[in-house]
Amino acid sequence: MARFLTFTYLFFVMIIYVKTRSVHKSNSETPVFDEKNKDHWNMQAQWILQTKLSNHLNTKVAKNVILFLGDGMSITTLAATRVYLGQKYGHLGEELKLSFEAFPYTGLSKTYCVDSNVADSACSGTAYLSGIKANSGTVGLSAAVKRGDCKGQRDGLHSVTGLMDWAQKAGKGTGLVTTTRVTHATPAAAYAHSADRRWETDNELPKKGLRCEDIATQMVKGQVGSKIDVILGGGRRNFFPKTQTDPEGYRGCRSDGVDLIREWKKRKEALGVFPRFVYNKEGLLNLDDSLYHSVLGLFSPDHMPYHLEAGDDDPTLTEMTQKAILMLKKKKNGFFLFVEGGRIDTAHHETKARKALDETAEFAKAVEAALRLVDLQETLVVVTSDHSHTMTYSGYSKRGSDILGLVNRNNASDNLPYATLSYANGPGYKEAGRFHRYNLAKDDFNDVNYTYPSLVPINRETHGGEDVAVFARGPWSHLFTGSFEQNFLPHAIAYASCIGPGLTTCKSKSRSP
Ligand SMILES: *[C@@H]1O[C@H](CO)[C@@H](O)[C@H](O)[C@H]1NC(C)=O
Ligand SMILES: *[C@@H]1O[C@H](CO)[C@@H](O)[C@H](O)[C@H]1NC(C)=O
Ligand SMILES: [Zn+2]
Repeated sequence: MARFLTFTYLFFVMIIYVKTRSVHKSNSETPVFDEKNKDHWNMQAQWILQTKLSNHLNTKVAKNVILFLGDGMSITTLAATRVYLGQKYGHLGEELKLSFEAFPYTGLSKTYCVDSNVADSACSGTAYLSGIKANSGTVGLSAAVKRGDCKGQRDGLHSVTGLMDWAQKAGKGTGLVTTTRVTHATPAAAYAHSADRRWETDNELPKKGLRCEDIATQMVKGQVGSKIDVILGGGRRNFFPKTQTDPEGYRGCRSDGVDLIREWKKRKEALGVFPRFVYNKEGLLNLDDSLYHSVLGLFSPDHMPYHLEAGDDDPTLTEMTQKAILMLKKKKNGFFLFVEGGRIDTAHHETKARKALDETAEFAKAVEAALRLVDLQETLVVVTSDHSHTMTYSGYSKRGSDILGLVNRNNASDNLPYATLSYANGPGYKEAGRFHRYNLAKDDFNDVNYTYPSLVPINRETHGGEDVAVFARGPWSHLFTGSFEQNFLPHAIAYASCIGPGLTTCKSKSRSP
């Protein structure tokens, strides 16, 4: 049932189907609904019109905010995922919408960074979490600091904070959920200031020269990091020494001998908070959310595994999101929760399109699960991405064709087949003989690890520079429309939820006579 509802749209399509059927008797060959009948399209479009006309602007204060970030979730990725997920449940696929594609307001966000035409997750995270565009590879610092400038980080002059800090100062609960290491660039941008995204542990800091505080340490001891109530994700090895092993037998990565997990517990207890550390799915699902105020869940030594390769011990993004909301819902001033589907990006870098689409499907399920746990009248939900990728969706295959297969109506000019999904660059480059292209007909497109073809050989496929989509529902979601700079997002979120130093709906109200 939960999976079925990942397509909000399907429900309405079904209604239209029943109605068109009663108007025109469909013959037995028609698929699920009769697209050959003009009434189908008219009724569908009229229904969309009616929904839009009945949409009222919500100008309440957003007590809660959930920001969902699909890392590397380009618009192409969304279109392809609809088909992937739809076909899994027996539909043609193209006609469906992912859960958040049914949100009433959408916009386009421009993702470039101060020193780079195409964003990385670090500068991008700084923009959509703190409202400041930054340099590539840096988190929580303005563009006055170049990547690797430890002195610039230590100065503190150029540090910027954003939604996490503003929400905490407004007395809200805060949470962070990701499928990557919790110290990876995207989550780090929520709480850390680091001149290099790679400085996740002390072991990764430059061996010579000034020493900067690593990201894991900032998560546990930092002004913002130490106040986060719920942190769930991967990257456990960054929190304890090389000389120790964790409950699952993996070694730590730290050289400074510090057990940051123990430190995290101690600090929470000192604040009079009842903390709990968990490291597997059972621990998370059995955690009594009425008993604990704060939870740290580190479910994997590195990134959490891809959903297609996850074991019984790995919680899903949906399970982590649900638990985070149940914990944060107890806060009387509301909460800010940041949820990242982080492995869409890593799959694209490997040109493993099947995994990228599957991770996006998982992300859409997590959004839908969240919607069912909150009061939608007082919760602003924003879904977006940090940057695009180079995947294209092309050809003229028959309707309902396998999105992960070859174009099936024509071959290329060289009479060799080409794939519906392919990349401009990446490890999927396939060597061919002189004067001819590699023949994809030889490949197994059902292999989860199949690397989709790319034009230019590069070890890790690159990000893309075009805009990403923003979907919003709830209080002030109509602000998230049009085409805007990515760093506008936290300003609009802060306005809606009355947090942060800028203009808010509460401040503007108190000023008016
Ligand atoms: C495309 O090329 C493949 C492999 O050479 C061949 O099997 C297939 O029949 C061709 N399809 C079309 C539509 O020409
Ligand atoms: C895919 O690759 C990963 C590691 O890169 C490996 O762990 C996994 O077993 C592979 N899956 C299959 C089905 O070969
Ligand atoms: Zn990336």
